Amino acid sequence: MTKTIIAMVNQKGGVGKTTTAINVAAQLAADKHTVLLIDLDPQGNATSGLGIPKEQVQLTILDLLREEATLANLVQETHVAKLYVLPANADLAGAEVELVNKERREFALSKGLKTADYDYVIIDCPPSLGLLTINALTAANSVFIPVQAEYYALEGLSQLLNTIQAVKASTNPSLELLGIALTMFDKRNSLSEQVQTEVENYFGDKLFKTVIPRNVRLAEAPSYGKTIYEHDRWSKGARAYKALAKELRTRTT
Ligand SMILES: Nc1ncnc2c1ncn2[C@@H]1O[C@H](COP(=O)(O)OP(=O)(O)OP(=O)(O)O)[C@@H](O)[C@H]1O
Ligand SMILES: [Mg+2]
Repeated sequence: MTKTIIAMVNQKGGVGKTTTAINVAAQLAADKHTVLLIDLDPQGNATSGLGIPKEQVQLTILDLLREEATLANLVQETHVAKLYVLPANADLAGAEVELVNKERREFALSKGLKTADYDYVIIDCPPSLGLLTINALTAANSVFIPVQAEYYALEGLSQLLNTIQAVKASTNPSLELLGIALTMFDKRNSLSEQVQTEVENYFGDKLFKTVIPRNVRLAEAPSYGKTIYEHDRWSKGARAYKALAKELRTRTT
């Protein structure tokens, strides 16, 4: 059985969910853990970011949600040892509408993951609080929220926390907040520090000590289908994600 299932969530787009999911997952795998990265976003960025041509993928997370395939049939190896992926592509865009008519529609992912046996499962969510994200929160035991260090960073967070509370009260009482990580931090910009202080005041210990800097190497890596460690292992971004994965491990053991 999988002990730690992490939902990477923020309904705001472009805050670093996928970048964090891929690079934390890859570092955990490098640290000898078996890791399954689930792409739960029709954009398929976690899939393509690991070098898998998403439009050529025949079997996706959608087949799991539809109960038309088992987890074992869908999981793919990646070029990173111990890192596996359950891919997604644009076909998933219709899933929300499709799932609505299903019985126990919030539990489709949870049910599909019953047989999962990894040290970590990380679910990369789409930028919405729709049914796909509710499925992720229902299947997970931990929530990881990446927050971009910019002006409107805290906007929408109370809505996200309310959603987490609602899921706890209904479909998943054991769900816990694992942590918040600041992403795209620019230390030359005083706004970044202002946001850091605000998030710290709001979340206290839940804020990870490790801050992810704005680093162009992180933005380049997915276009080569590579993790940051393969693209530029000595970059600031690589060092930061390595430290973040280490901090995450101490919170999950
Ligand atoms: N620390 C960083 N420094 C520079 N660029 C970054 C950093 N983190 C992410 N990016 C870039 O910012 C963009 C958004 O990041 P990412 O795709 O990880 O966000 P997301 O929250 O998954 O987005 P979406 O909500 O669309 O799924 C991407 O182009 C990514 O390469
Ligand atoms: Mg994404």
